[in-house]
Amino acid sequence: MITIESLGKLESTPTPFYFYDTNLLDQTLQRVKESSGRYGFEVHYAIKANANRKILTRIASFGLGADCVSGNEVELAIKCGFDPKKIVFAGVGKTDSEIELALDSSIFCFHSESVQELIVINQLAAQRSIIAKVALRLNPDVKAGTHAHITTGMIENKFGLSVDEVIEAKRILPSLKNINIIGLHFHIGSQITNMEVFKTLSSKANQLKNELFPKNSFNYINMGGGLGIDYTRPNSNPIPDFEGYFSTFNQNLVLESNQKIHFELGRSIVAQCGSLITKVTYVKGSSKHQFAVVDAGMNDLIRPALYDASHSIVNLSSNGNILTYDVVGPVCESADCFAKEIPLPQVQRGDILAILSCGAYGEVMSSRYNMREIPYAVYSQEKLEPA
Ligand code: LLP
Repeated sequence: MITIESLGKLESTPTPFYFYDTNLLDQTLQRVKESSGRYGFEVHYAIKANANRKILTRIASFGLGADCVSGNEVELAIKCGFDPKKIVFAGVGKTDSEIELALDSSIFCFHSESVQELIVINQLAAQRSIIAKVALRLNPDVKAGTHAHITTGMIENKFGLSVDEVIEAKRILPSLKNINIIGLHFHIGSQITNMEVFKTLSSKANQLKNELFPKNSFNYINMGGGLGIDYTRPNSNPIPDFEGYFSTFNQNLVLESNQKIHFELGRSIVAQCGSLITKVTYVKGSSKHQFAVVDAGMNDLIRPALYDASHSIVNLSSNGNILTYDVVGPVCESADCFAKEIPLPQVQRGDILAILSCGAYGEVMSSRYNMREIPYAVYSQEKLEPA
């Protein structure tokens, strides 16, 4: 649990900044390894969730692979110690130069999302006289029951191949001599906490595999990421239900003897270890509606503005009477609001607030909107030493 003491010497440290509890990250990684290892599953960390170099280096040191969605992510993953043989590369719009970079880096596998992309990968691999390993990302048309912006597995979403496209891909594959289709890939969305959704995904994957491909076509099946975390009670529930997640797939996926299951988890690995630390600049409003104006803005953490996400907020400086506040940033948009009408111990100018569960899709999505600075990061094991 984050406390003012755990942050070290705050007086001299400019806010806002991301604070990472690296012990919690280690514990979470340990749990991922144990729970996935029990079933012989492989996990690739989804770099998009948090591409902070120190965090990446830490994750790589646990032997996880990486799931990348851009050439820059592939390069960074390798720099931070991920084994290229454990790197997968996904995305609907890979450019030629990104594909070339991935081919030249000898990554494990491309996740291909269109027939045209298969043709391009084949051409670029042929120019190098190599055979690229490719998995087909299928769109299983399964509801994830999560926010519309982070739902990816419905037929109206841009991701993956529809059944019609798979049929077309199968027709041309014999002529694509420089790609080897090694498997199938699925990913239906993010922040999914209902295991029934993963059960449905498993059944749909079994069905598509049987209907569209003969037996023994593949040895690689990647079921994506998506496991959600507890944004409401992060302190009492800091490590997500990896056991429930992996065992759901273990129980419901029907595998051939040589098939190995891989995953690409992002949020569940890093979300709970990160907090956004911010200082109260002003308290304002009427007796009916109080605003705590803080020095972090939607440019530092965009999740509440973009997905209506709610993050727990604690006042680390006060244990006074509980009052009700909107916690808002300085950016010139009404969407620059971290929480509406939440109870907090009485807030004063200068108080330090922690916005919790920000380790995933926080720092990495920050921007310079309003010409604000990009937030920096500090780590529990190095007490306030900027990256
Ligand atoms: N694999 C693929 C193909 C993905 O598109 C994603 C996330 C993942 C894996 C990792 O999913 P996770 O385990 O983190 O749920 N910015 C949004 C989340 C966007 C997720 C994008 N794709 C948010 O802040 O909620």
